[in-house]
Amino acid sequence: MTTAQNTPFDFSGRHVFVAGGSSGINLAIADAFARRGARLSIASRSAERVEGAVRQLRGHGGDAKGYSADVRDYDAVEGALAQAHERFGPVDVLVSGAAGNFVAPALGMSSKGFRTVVDIDLIGGFNVLRAAHAFLRRPGASVINISAPQAINPTLYQAHVCAAKAGLDMLTRVLAIEWGSDGIRVNSIVPGPIGDTEGVRRLAPSPEALAAMAQSIPLGRFGTTAEVADMAMVLSSPMASFVTGAVIPVDGGSSLAGGRNLGAAVTGH
Ligand code: NAP
Ligand code: COA
Repeated sequence: MTTAQNTPFDFSGRHVFVAGGSSGINLAIADAFARRGARLSIASRSAERVEGAVRQLRGHGGDAKGYSADVRDYDAVEGALAQAHERFGPVDVLVSGAAGNFVAPALGMSSKGFRTVVDIDLIGGFNVLRAAHAFLRRPGASVINISAPQAINPTLYQAHVCAAKAGLDMLTRVLAIEWGSDGIRVNSIVPGPIGDTEGVRRLAPSPEALAAMAQSIPLGRFGTTAEVADMAMVLSSPMASFVTGAVIPVDGGSSLAGGRNLGAAVTGH
């Protein structure tokens, strides 16, 4: 029988820090690492949600500790990373996936509404990576930004997310260059629509919208959180030791189908 032991996907003793790791796709990634022996640090705003995630991760075999921090608050993020470093040592894998979204046309969102999403998804992503650098294992760390198809395709009613995630992918590429000499790899995973997640609940709140969204995906179905986690395992394993600055869709082809299709599913027209 194949086990994680002695395979490229054995993360025993490795320290994995997940920003925005208390639910959904990011928690599934944390869980996949925990099941393969990693020690997990989880950070998000809600202390209650963080504690729930930590209980789940410990139940699946991983040592875990949670921190309450808003990625918009640089000092809070840096404090969480410093405490995590003290507890579990240098960070081997950093996953940065905190995000916010709502559906609105550009004229239906205030400047503050637009800025709120950019602050979380883009500036928050910068804060996490900038603050983490001092605590990353050098050489050897794998940094993964969680992007979205909106980074690639202009999507109706998603001006804020499109702008923020496109910026995030460019940050991935720039830091891959800047941090390459430290032996740190920086990549983006671009999940497509993933079933039973808050992201999809917001974009497709009715059964009709869900069906239209599934139809817009070339593989004809939603992805699973486990399928996104699998890519995080590969990117953080020796199998990807020469991969950096890559923006990798895990989306059933949805980014090829065009944002207009996804946008039509979201808006119904
Ligand atoms: P989710 O369950 O709502 O996860 C978002 C996470 O971010 C939560 O843990 C949330 O916890 C945290 N968070 C939100 N704002 C934060 C802030 N200001 N500071 C710190 N943490 C914050 O959503 P999801 O659908 O799984 O999405 C996860 C990631 O995948 C996001 O980056 C999203 O853009 C990306 N994505 C999702 C899909 C999809 O189909 N769902 C598709 C493409 C990309 P708190 O509320 O406790 O802060
Ligand atoms: N349409 C238009 N504007 C909206 C909106 C909507 N549906 N929802 C929020 N906004 C605006 C608010 O009106 C406010 O602007 P204003 O003060 O000028 O009116 C601004 O966005 C900030 O809202 P607020 O609720 O104060 O922000 P927050 O920091 O508490 O929450 C959100 C951030 C809005 C992104 C919130 O939905 C959130 O926390 N999301 C996290 C979970 C999530 O989105 N998961 C999916 C990830 S893909």
